[in-house]
Amino acid sequence: RPVPVLAIDGPSASGKGTVAARVAQALGWHYLDSGSLYRLVALAALRAGVALEEEGRLAALAAALPASFEDGRVLLDGADVTDDIRSEACSAGASKVAALPAVRAALLDRQRDYRAAPGLVAEGRDMGSVVFPDAALKVFLTATAEARAERRYKQLMAKGMAANMQSLLKDLHERDARDAARPVAPLKKLPDAVLLDTTNLDVEQAVSFVLERVPVAD
Ligand code: C5P
Repeated sequence: RPVPVLAIDGPSASGKGTVAARVAQALGWHYLDSGSLYRLVALAALRAGVALEEEGRLAALAAALPASFEDGRVLLDGADVTDDIRSEACSAGASKVAALPAVRAALLDRQRDYRAAPGLVAEGRDMGSVVFPDAALKVFLTATAEARAERRYKQLMAKGMAANMQSLLKDLHERDARDAARPVAPLKKLPDAVLLDTTNLDVEQAVSFVLERVPVAD
């Protein structure tokens, strides 16, 4: 019997990362934050001076990405870059490199390697469509752009970072448009995915919604 996968896809800042991590913890399953891989490619490229349009060089960077995940921290070449990959430059850069087919192909096996017993909760844009099409449960987790921008605003303020609602909203719209319009692995709700709109839900409610729908192994 294949190791079960729970695929959670949705737009930026929808809260899917928080929900996916909590669900994985509750189930005792492994957790894959696939967006962090695209963010790492963007960071590695920015540091190496590789332009975000150079598909071949970016794919080579992605294939040899010296990345690891330890205790919720993200490491690149052994250095903690957990906060660096969340910068606006890496967010925008990630959605640019993610539009390149060769970069996506270079990261495919690495993502599938996370599938291990007793199960995997995988979060991103194409978990249910491309990486784990045989997922036992697919969730499309979303919220209005305004609600998402507001959450991001509060996160930044809590970290003592400068934030501007208008520019956050503009960035979100740009990234959403780029992720949904690209020819490869565009973000969209699959017919076999369950819709979870978190606009008026808190994290607990969203986590319960997902847990209630996880098929139990017999
Ligand atoms: O989820 P997160 O916002 O961290 O992802 C960063 C970017 O990586 C997204 O804007 C998207 O372009 C890309 N991405 C993707 N496919 C995934 C996960 C993320 O294209 N499975």
